[in-house]
Amino acid sequence: MRKIIMSKTKNDLAIIILAAGQGSRMKSDLPKVLHKIAGKEMIRYVIDTAKSLNPKQLVVVISRGQSQLMDLLSQHKIDYAIQEKQLGTGDAVRSALSKLKGFKGNILVMYGDTPFVEASTLEFMLENMQEKKTSVSVLGFVANDPTGYGRLIIDNKGRLTSIIEEREADQNQKMIDLCNAGIMAFTSDALRLLEKLDNKNSGKEFYLTDIVKIANSRGLSCTASLASEVEVMGINNRVDLASAEVLMHGMLNLRALDNGVSMISPETVHLSYDTVIEKAVTIEPYVVIGTGVKIGRGAHIRSFSYIEGTDIGDGVIVGPFARLRKGTKLRKNSRIGNFVEVKESDIGEDAKINHLSYVGDSFVGKKANIGAGTITCNYDGKKKHKTEIGEGAFIGSNTSLVAPIKIGKNAIVGAGSTILRDVESNSLAINKMPQVSKKKK
Ligand code: UD1
Ligand code: MG
Repeated sequence: MRKIIMSKTKNDLAIIILAAGQGSRMKSDLPKVLHKIAGKEMIRYVIDTAKSLNPKQLVVVISRGQSQLMDLLSQHKIDYAIQEKQLGTGDAVRSALSKLKGFKGNILVMYGDTPFVEASTLEFMLENMQEKKTSVSVLGFVANDPTGYGRLIIDNKGRLTSIIEEREADQNQKMIDLCNAGIMAFTSDALRLLEKLDNKNSGKEFYLTDIVKIANSRGLSCTASLASEVEVMGINNRVDLASAEVLMHGMLNLRALDNGVSMISPETVHLSYDTVIEKAVTIEPYVVIGTGVKIGRGAHIRSFSYIEGTDIGDGVIVGPFARLRKGTKLRKNSRIGNFVEVKESDIGEDAKINHLSYVGDSFVGKKANIGAGTITCNYDGKKKHKTEIGEGAFIGSNTSLVAPIKIGKNAIVGAGSTILRDVESNSLAINKMPQVSKKKK
């Protein structure tokens, strides 16, 4: 899990995140970096890690067509630069330079599709650079299968002399399993060497990685730091995305278990990146928790429940087979049973909605009991309306409450009613037709 490092702005650090690539292997209209892992866009993991290093400047490189990405960056107040044509990683970094005019210090380049790199690894890399007084620092890893990666060429004194891209590598170089993770840092002086990059290679691209060779030829030294293969995994297609989801799923569940949450079958429980769970909570198998969910102390979530945007109070029992939607608040010790859907509603302490109900845009008072099959008819085809059910009210089974409507405190609604008008406190409302029995002819 990523460490949040609290410190002052580092005036000598700027970070560029590359995200202008097409990501065509995702086979998606959505820009690759906007695909989500545990409910959060891939690039937001990278941005959060970058921000935790407190750089003086942070710039994301995008392409012109990526309007959804622009919206996300604007929403999070992140500066971006546009790379007009995707001419390679070297050209992408060059596109960001107009945003860094006058900057002096180290420039760290990250990839928007490499979400798990930890801040501590980047700090280590930057420290390593400072200590060894090198001009270029590269993050490397030993690949299980190096195919497709740039290979790090290290001389017999341990110096990084060049990076050879797969397409340019000869048979011997292809045997090297020490690969470039894509994350690099440069001093602002070394970054000037970007002007010297050319695209005379088989990819006809400006390779950022060529900067290592150019720096060495000018007497500037380069170094590599190592990370684990999992940490630097890049996401290029849906298989990688699914692997990233599995990885994140495992990390989130481990953290929850460690914090005192019981899971009977953790591999079947899906949490989101922002799920907050207090101690002594039990989550049964096959539960999906989307974004924006808080679960209070001692709550119990039964199997096959699907929960998003909900605040679950202490001691609440949910499910099995409950659906809780955005804007729901379940107060202390309330009960939501099987086949119950709740949306944008405030359910009071000790209130019970135990079976087969839809409760939407409602307020349910303390200790109210909502019988099986109760439906709040909140939508008239044009607008949504509110239902208010007072403290201690008892709604009989199979009742339709046609909103806007108020059921008073301790009122009773007879089973099978269709309630169209407000019901006063402490009164009984029934409106079904009297039962008729006729002899068969
Ligand atoms: C790159 C590295 C390779 C490394 C690998 C690690 C280069 C030349 N090669 O190769 O050494 O082993 O990453 O995964 O740098 N991008 C742009 N604009 C472009 C091209 C790319 O913004 O014109 C961005 C992409 O969105 C992506 C990143 O740069 O975030 C890397 O691009 P990608 O095409 O995936 O590079 P690789 O071929 O994987
Ligand atoms: Mg790649």
